Amino acid sequence: MGPRVTVYEVGPRDGLQNEAALVPTAGKLQLIGALADAGLSRIEATSFVSPTWIPQLSDAAEVTAHLPARPGTSYVVLVPNARGLGRLREALERAPGGPPVSAAVFLSASETHNRKNVNKSVEETFAVFAEVIPPARKAGLEVRGYVSTVFGCPYEGAVDPGRAAEVALRLLELGCGQVSLGDTIGVGTPAQVRAVLRRLLPAVPAERLALHLHDTRGTALANALAGLEEGITTFDASVGGLGGCPYAPGASGNLATEDLVYLLHGMGYDTGIDFERLVGAGALAQRLTGRELPGRALRAALATRTEG
Ligand code: HMG
Ligand code: MG
Repeated sequence: MGPRVTVYEVGPRDGLQNEAALVPTAGKLQLIGALADAGLSRIEATSFVSPTWIPQLSDAAEVTAHLPARPGTSYVVLVPNARGLGRLREALERAPGGPPVSAAVFLSASETHNRKNVNKSVEETFAVFAEVIPPARKAGLEVRGYVSTVFGCPYEGAVDPGRAAEVALRLLELGCGQVSLGDTIGVGTPAQVRAVLRRLLPAVPAERLALHLHDTRGTALANALAGLEEGITTFDASVGGLGGCPYAPGASGNLATEDLVYLLHGMGYDTGIDFERLVGAGALAQRLTGRELPGRALRAALATRTEG
């Protein structure tokens, strides 16, 4: 077996938050179950953000209280503030003995995107996190951190790699177990990925970093490969390529899980994922959203199935 890579599935959260279709709670749970059955070990299930801002995920409590228990699969949910953490803890109290769930916080490397996304400056957001991360950890929850707009901002353009690295380091210092570097609008290139990673990796173990790539301009797999070559072992991806960021215009196009897994398996990496079952989950995501999803390996696999 080749070296292990963790594929961190964000479709049920990052994907569905940006879909026009409102998928019913039962459909979301069915999709999450199909992804877990395909062998995804980390699934971002939902988000305890304001339902006014993201109506698609207003059933976060129901989803969290009914997450399917599968051996080897744990779940993550987004919490933007103390109110979100409180809602998460209430939902978990409704599901004693349920599968493991942890939290994730998010902010941007650029001021304008951060303000559009969470209505606060970056500094104000760090002050919010100081009241979320330590209490979450005290309550036994691991916390992941996201830095958005690492390689470019839809409002400010280029982002200084030093700035992105500094925000990531502050999240780690505040107690995040892992920080995921987000190419929110899919503008990054391998040279940029290397530039940011090379600022962080001398100080941070590779397993504490992840790459969250969007394929808006077709660079996501090239960026993933650059990350692999730098030693990164966790990559975020979204089933079928669902989603984007509602506060980043034109940012549809998360790296599709099937595309990433196809590349990794072809290169001899071990992901623990069953590709055929993953394609089944992708087909389900298409049925639930009522649209053909952009993931290329999914499309190719489904076309072959039809032909066969
Ligand atoms: P705000 O309006 O500034 O909040 O929103 P506020 O603190 O002023 O409160 C206003 C009202 O919202 C109050 O209710 C609060 O209780 C309520 P009222 O007293 O008026 O009745 N409220 C909440 N309700 C439910 N859950 C909560 C919550 N917090 C406050 N957690 C806030 C601030 C952060 C809540 C809002 O801006 C928000 O929800 N933003 C989320 C935007 C979002 O979800 N974006 C997508 C996720 S990030 C992403 O996709 C990028 C990523 O994938 C990486 C990448 O690609 O780069 C992670
Ligand atoms: Mg995203």
